[in-house]
Amino acid sequence: MKTAVKWMVLSVLVMGMTGCSEYGRMRETPGVKPHEEPLLIMREGVVPFDGGEEILRNTPGEALSSPLNMKDAAVAAAGAKEYVNYCIHCHGKNYDGYGTVGQSFAPKPDDLREADVQGMSDGELFQYIGYSKPKSRHPALATTVSIIDRWRITAYIKSLGIRP
Ligand code: HEC
Repeated sequence: MKTAVKWMVLSVLVMGMTGCSEYGRMRETPGVKPHEEPLLIMREGVVPFDGGEEILRNTPGEALSSPLNMKDAAVAAAGAKEYVNYCIHCHGKNYDGYGTVGQSFAPKPDDLREADVQGMSDGELFQYIGYSKPKSRHPALATTVSIIDRWRITAYIKSLGIRP
């Protein structure tokens, strides 16, 4: 028994010294020390810092226009599908906030067919969905819902009109 322990200790030591384990290969890496090599300078235009999502976020809502035809019934129909994916659990199948999750909010989520919501411009509604607003309890869904789907959902909600 004692000899077995001795052998185990010895073999671990040998493995460690010779680096015959998986990690041995780490010795082959160049091991660059900080500042030994000049910093990688990015080619211009590789990292977007004021394009895409930033333009959509920072343009005033009323000035933001959709790349889609927002009056097209097919666009709204596509938005209806995404509403089921991303909104219905809070806003409900009747858009009144009585969704499975929405019921737990106090006060509950706004009725999407109320005049305030229907009075928002397409751009304002698009921005609210993606970025929410300070102090709002709304989730900012920009990283969850694609840009094009946010426009589709916007078209769908606007197509519902004010509740009679
Ligand atoms: C986690 C639950 C939840 C989800 C998911 C959700 N909402 Fe909401 N929504 C809320 C709550 C809560 C409010 C009320 C926010 C407040 O006033 O603090 C709200 C309010 C709103 C308003 C009213 C804004 C206003 O200023 O009157 C709009 C429009 C809206 N949601 C659209 C959507 C759309 C479109 C989706 C799907 C893409 C969605 N929401 C997904 C919970 C949710």
